[in-house]
Amino acid sequence: MLVSAKDMLNKAKAGKYAVGQFNINNLEWTKAILQTAEELKSPVILGVSEGAGKYMCGYKTVVGMINGMLEELNITVPVALHLDHGSYEGAKKCIEAGFSSVMFDGSHYPIEENIAKTKELVETCNKLGLSLEAEVGAIGGEEDGVVGNGEVADPKECKMIADLGVTMLAAGIGNIHGKYPANWAGLSFDTLAEIQELTGTMPLVLHGGTGIPADMIKKAISLGVSKINVNTECQLAFAEATRKYIEAGKDLEGKGFDPRKLLADGTAAIKATVKEKMELFGSVGKA
Ligand code: 13P
Repeated sequence: MLVSAKDMLNKAKAGKYAVGQFNINNLEWTKAILQTAEELKSPVILGVSEGAGKYMCGYKTVVGMINGMLEELNITVPVALHLDHGSYEGAKKCIEAGFSSVMFDGSHYPIEENIAKTKELVETCNKLGLSLEAEVGAIGGEEDGVVGNGEVADPKECKMIADLGVTMLAAGIGNIHGKYPANWAGLSFDTLAEIQELTGTMPLVLHGGTGIPADMIKKAISLGVSKINVNTECQLAFAEATRKYIEAGKDLEGKGFDPRKLLADGTAAIKATVKEKMELFGSVGKA
């Protein structure tokens, strides 16, 4: 059964480790992530962007696929199904469809409007026992065609949103989605420390997990980050392994064109990436 992300993240915050949110795109992605979490006895959050939700034929399809897999694969570790960077309308749709967690990304609204909309969703999610992630300070980079620069959030605004009773808070600290440019300034740890100081036990979320060096990840966790989002890195690993398979001409050998064979190396590469991240984040054995 899908669970809210609340308990797993509160435990992570108290235990100074982070739970990975891995974004899914299709059945292979979902299966790879769930199997790895089970093998490593790690809690896990499956992230679905609005674009990926559309691609997978809508939120109800996603919920049906995941609930089926939890049962058929005998998954016993805590799994949350989470809307990533949701709009206000998207969050409502996912709640109706059976997601156990949603993000409302109101970071592009003036702070008053972000507060008003987040507040309304806090009430809905509390009533239903779902977890809610809010965001302050837009995360840069490109996601679903929207490009932004890595902003640094105002810690006071973070406190205002945290005080509304959200489950977890994403704050921009110079992180961006996708690959980091060679001249990236790195994460703003001073800002993170200030946010953590003001928001206390609130689990903080680090977006743009792809390509952040291991030492920065560890430092971010030590400063209160309890959820780290990874998307692009699994995509790159899948694409590289699939390209190698085709370039080696394996699709031309025997029944190598069968999608169950054609996509196997890419799926294994996603598993390896998820394993590496869970080990780095410290969530192995915490289920
Ligand atoms: P990356 O694609 O950079 O790993 O970011 C993922 C993310 O933050 C999803 O919200």
